Amino acid sequence: DLEGRVDTSDAWIVERTGIRERRVVTSGETTASLAIAAGAAAIKAAGITPDEVELLVVATCTADQQLPATSAAVQDGLGLSCGALDVDAACAGFVYALVTAAAMVETGRVGAALVIGAETLSRITDPDDRGTVVLFGDGAGACVLRPGRTGLLAFDLGCDGSLGGILEVPVGERYIRMEGSEVFRRAVRVVVASAYAALERGGLGPGDVDVFIPHQANARIVSAACDRLGIPRDRTVMNLDRYGNTSAASIPIALAEACEAGRLREGDVVLLSGFGAGMTWASALLRWEAA
Ligand code: ACO
Repeated sequence: DLEGRVDTSDAWIVERTGIRERRVVTSGETTASLAIAAGAAAIKAAGITPDEVELLVVATCTADQQLPATSAAVQDGLGLSCGALDVDAACAGFVYALVTAAAMVETGRVGAALVIGAETLSRITDPDDRGTVVLFGDGAGACVLRPGRTGLLAFDLGCDGSLGGILEVPVGERYIRMEGSEVFRRAVRVVVASAYAALERGGLGPGDVDVFIPHQANARIVSAACDRLGIPRDRTVMNLDRYGNTSAASIPIALAEACEAGRLREGDVVLLSGFGAGMTWASALLRWEAA
């Protein structure tokens, strides 16, 4: 399909990005509708009822509308009776949201929290720009954090706003503008530094990581980060060949798929690490607690 629209080839896309398929919303589907589907699945998998959710955090950089927040529609769609907020930290958004919700749950002032990453990047991707149209996809993933068992051991959050211009949707414009190779170069560096920072705060090293779930942006970024961290490929979850880069949704989709595939065992050390527009980055070190 893409070969017919822009000057590219399937071979180039697979070799330079690792992406083979992406998902795109149909008319009528929205960031909120994807988030509602993922949220409902997470609530069911956690074995709780919607009224047990006491906080909803939706990570997205593709809100359906400027006002109100996407989380408001998600709260209504899921029939929750709790506070709801959006977090926008681009592709690092899910980890930012997870850490924010975990901090609230750990105070004991809220019970279970539902954390969702959801995006419809196809709406802000220029169909004529070969530098971005081959990368981005739509999707949503979610998880439930439970009181007393968030599993969060340590985290690292960061931002360098001076780099905002390398990946942005300028005011008044519709589509993403990205300096791809500049994002690439910096992404490897920040993912490695952030992952190390979280590991160090948790008193662990790369050799202790059972499952590494990096943001799914480009297979070459993930490979370079794994090599520098010394985390083997068989401990790294990759699904970007099927979804492309789904920004804040990429880590929770990979987390959910790893869970469903039985790759996460009770007590496993799980490292999540994302980076994105801002430039933002975020890593979370978890001790896996099954539902
Ligand atoms: N098909 C064919 N050729 C292409 C394509 C394409 N789809 N895209 C770029 N090219 C060309 C370029 O024009 C360039 O041609 P030239 O040498 O004649 O100028 C050549 O390929 C090499 O371009 P580079 O940009 O150096 O290619 P690179 O190997 O870096 O791959 C890519 C480009 C895939 C965009 C890569 O840089 C990348 O993945 N960057 C990171 C992007 C990313 O992760 N962004 C998301 C951040 S998360 C968020 O917050 C949304």
